[in-house]
Amino acid sequence: MIDKIYCAQVKPEMEGQRVKLAGWVYRKREIKDKVFIVLRDSSGIIQTVFKEELSKEAYETAKKTGIESSVIIEGIVKQDKRAPGGVEIQADKIEVIQNVEFFPITKDASPEFLLDVRHLHLRSPKVAAIMKVKATLIQAAREWLLQDGWYEVFPPILVTGAVEGGATLFKLKYFDKTAYLSQSAQLYLEAAIFGLEKVWSLTPSFRAEKSRTRRHLTEFWHLELEAAWMDLWDIMKVEEELVSYMVQRTLERRRSEIEMYRKDLTTLKNTEPPFPRISYDEAIDILQSKGVSIEWGEDMGADEERVLTEEFDRPFFVYGYPKHIKAFYMKEDPSDPRKVLAADMLAPEGYGEIIGGSQREDDYDKLVQRILEEGMDPKDYEWYLDLRKYGSVPHSGFGLGVERIVAWILNLDHVRWATLFPRTPTRLYP
Ligand code: 4AD
Repeated sequence: MIDKIYCAQVKPEMEGQRVKLAGWVYRKREIKDKVFIVLRDSSGIIQTVFKEELSKEAYETAKKTGIESSVIIEGIVKQDKRAPGGVEIQADKIEVIQNVEFFPITKDASPEFLLDVRHLHLRSPKVAAIMKVKATLIQAAREWLLQDGWYEVFPPILVTGAVEGGATLFKLKYFDKTAYLSQSAQLYLEAAIFGLEKVWSLTPSFRAEKSRTRRHLTEFWHLELEAAWMDLWDIMKVEEELVSYMVQRTLERRRSEIEMYRKDLTTLKNTEPPFPRISYDEAIDILQSKGVSIEWGEDMGADEERVLTEEFDRPFFVYGYPKHIKAFYMKEDPSDPRKVLAADMLAPEGYGEIIGGSQREDDYDKLVQRILEEGMDPKDYEWYLDLRKYGSVPHSGFGLGVERIVAWILNLDHVRWATLFPRTPTRLYP
């Protein structure tokens, strides 16, 4: 490890100090007898200036160094109001680790090209800002979960059955058997609550969704919680407290990164619980009154959700969905068997669903019946059904799509920008 300081650590108060920086050439321009190199590292950028009179050798080398070359630069800190951050480095030494003649990403690259060269695009400060926000959100989630007494568990990714419908399963050969990539850790988390009561996991989930929307990936990061002894209303409280903590902490710790993407922070600030709650029935009424053609019993897609979000300046819940549009494991509403005890959390500004959650069907016979109704074989779910035989308890849980919450917070036009190497039906490389 070299003894260097980060670009963002250089402050105007350090005037006159000698510093060593290491990073990549972000921008370069030559004006008369000076070469300006804006240096980039993981913390940010800083302007360095090379003058012939200070060091002819460094000046000549800087002149020949291309964009994205890796370099170590040394020099004296100098206040300068014209430089970004009000400070620059009067450089007298440059060591080129690797010179780059030509960097493939230029100013007006198309989004598709940027995805083709994602391995190079990741170094852009704007992309790094997204990854920092994502990491901070997850760090905040961990803090909250630890404080609130949830155990982290590590469920399998290679599985034998569907959680969210067979149509979106990725199938693979597993020796002489068939296996699938996990769509959700939920069923395994349900098994874990009998020993640990409140559990969570963060795993990749896979969906073979052909639909090309701005909110679907074939591989996404899934934060899932499951708790014994909680009903739907209890788990909704957990959801809003967790999301509130994640957003508030990220707003405190990543303000400048967030402001690279959005000017208006209102909806992020509006995340003090409780979040508004509307029933599915009310949602249908709102949509119909706004001229959307939808009948009771129909599922809401991205378009319908977008219209609903116009009613709110903060995240909100829609609860009490019709049974036949929701997953087999959701508990039937005892007061209306046409419905299930399920709630989705929707993000405002058109983003829509970021969380899907429910109370789980804890009755053995009802669960078997739902599995059959879905055209599945109860034999494939024998171990899961066992959980309803030996000390079954009321329990609830939910899944949060990490890229979806990042997309909302940063106002991104597609969830693919919220992931390191996006996987979509047409993209598996790089
Ligand atoms: O609503 P979903 O399908 O619910 C489940 O998987 C439950 N088994 C979770 C649970 O209760 N433990 O997915 C949960 C969330 C969605 O609200 C969405 O944010 C995200 O996962 N999600 C996706 N994100 C990106 N691309 C996709 N294809 C996604 N599918 C779901």
